[in-house]
Amino acid sequence: MDVSDLRREYMLAGLDERHLPPEPIAQFRAWLAEAVAADPLDPTAMTLATADAAGRPSARVLLLKGYDERGFVFFTNYGSRKARELAANAHAAMVFHWPAFDRQVRIEGVVEKTSRAESAAYFATRPLPSQLSAWASRQSEPAGGRAELEAAQAQAGERFAGGEVPVPDFWGGAGRRRLDRRAVAALKARAARPRTSRERTPRPMSASPRLPVAVVGSCIMDFCVSVPRLPRLGENVIASGLRVAHGGKGANQAVALARLGAAPRLIASVGDDDFGRSFRTMLRDEGVGVDLVGTSTVPTGIGVPMILGGGENAIVVALGAAMSLRPEAVGAARREIAAASALLLQLEVPLDSAITAMAIARGAGVEVFLNAAPIVEGAEAACRAADVLVVNETEAEALAGGGIGDGVESALRASADLHRLGPPVVVVTLGERGAVWSAGAGLGTARGAVWSGGVRRCETERGGFVPGFRVAAVDPTGAGDAFCAGLVWSRIHGVAWRPAVELANACGALAATAVGAMTALPDRAAAEALVASGERWSAAGR
Ligand SMILES: Cc1cc2nc3c(=O)[nH]c(=O)nc-3n(C[C@H](O)[C@H](O)[C@H](O)COP(=O)(O)O)c2cc1C
Repeated sequence: MDVSDLRREYMLAGLDERHLPPEPIAQFRAWLAEAVAADPLDPTAMTLATADAAGRPSARVLLLKGYDERGFVFFTNYGSRKARELAANAHAAMVFHWPAFDRQVRIEGVVEKTSRAESAAYFATRPLPSQLSAWASRQSEPAGGRAELEAAQAQAGERFAGGEVPVPDFWGGAGRRRLDRRAVAALKARAARPRTSRERTPRPMSASPRLPVAVVGSCIMDFCVSVPRLPRLGENVIASGLRVAHGGKGANQAVALARLGAAPRLIASVGDDDFGRSFRTMLRDEGVGVDLVGTSTVPTGIGVPMILGGGENAIVVALGAAMSLRPEAVGAARREIAAASALLLQLEVPLDSAITAMAIARGAGVEVFLNAAPIVEGAEAACRAADVLVVNETEAEALAGGGIGDGVESALRASADLHRLGPPVVVVTLGERGAVWSAGAGLGTARGAVWSGGVRRCETERGGFVPGFRVAAVDPTGAGDAFCAGLVWSRIHGVAWRPAVELANACGALAATAVGAMTALPDRAAAEALVASGERWSAAGR
């Protein structure tokens, strides 16, 4: 075999600087999630390069066992060659390679040992044979043969028989690496020359894996009525149209995410009735996971959106079974929440259940998007646990505890003010005008350092106004839900805030172009087409 004959074209997804999040760790999280979804075989495997005191390098494959803003963690034997080299020279480099995407991530920095407690906590999660082999193996030393290793492992088994296996002194937290925060992601450039028919067809972008999103929320059957005006007290107003449709913020947001190309799983409660059964079928058909949708003795909730000419609405909702979602049921979904790329929730479920889901997600490092709608008593407590808070102007006003005033400037001030409730990122939607976003001070500070060295230009904004799109709006029901889904989809794919809000605006605008919440929830192609060529809202042009 002539290895020089082995070649292929690198024509998979391109890399658009504008879509990079300001924090490399956010990009890493998104790409790792894609790698896990594309290929379950060792997506966390990476090559670690160390060098001895004389600068002679060595490299080996390890598994990543944790990461956050502070660095990347792996575990190893402290007597191993890599550990000895790191003791003499703490500088190291790490490379992840995900061929399914023609992607590599390079990380360089200084390695420190993790604390004993961290090592022990991880060691306790290892299967028993792995724990025993940590005791048995003298890593990097020539082994006397398989029999010797097996005997050492058996001996360790006898030594700790019946009890917990403690973490060996010579094993463990091989490095919470305090990085110099330079993470360089390199993507092979698109091939410049045209393909011939004999060449391999590259995987299209649409084949990118469906990232899992946990959605906690409601299923509400909507009875949409078109009315000339809202009824006054004691008055009957005859509606000119009636449409029965699936709705509820949870179901809407889950379906919106599925249409955009994510893999949502809904954690919800429906009644033991025809509406509940019809929800399960519809959600399944839309590509939403329903195995965590429970059945309650309370009837499925119903809503009555009253649609006025001109695209405005008012809604009465009886939440029904949605309020039967207990914290225990959410706790039972712990594994699925922890494995998700994001958690998205609203407040049409009991507050303690919402907070339980958020606590699980945060504990697992899963980003929490809270659409604080409707504002319920105690909503502030939920806001505290959110990474990203999405509200409309009315909800922002309720959370701010008073009038926020009209206009984009007031909304910008309100979004910045809402950080005091806890969320590092706040987005306030402004209907047809678009949305404003604000990333708190904590998020902005590291940017210059993170992308220094001329690696690439990065978003330096910490917030701003993103105008919406002009469409023929008919019914805004579900527009906010489509917005949330667009925002989550963009963020789990590593899109920076401004373009993420822009795609969310497009989703919201398209959702308003037909009567009913779900009718016009767009797919990604439609939303991206509107972003590419849609007419933006402007104060002058209204
Ligand atoms: C897929 C894969 C994953 C591995 N993961 C680890 C790991 O997490 N920790 C570790 O110490 N060794 C791991 N190893 C073994 C290392 O590659 C290496 O052989 C061993 O740590 C000794 O390296 P050293 O002599 O350079 O210190 C892994 C090997 C493979 C092939």
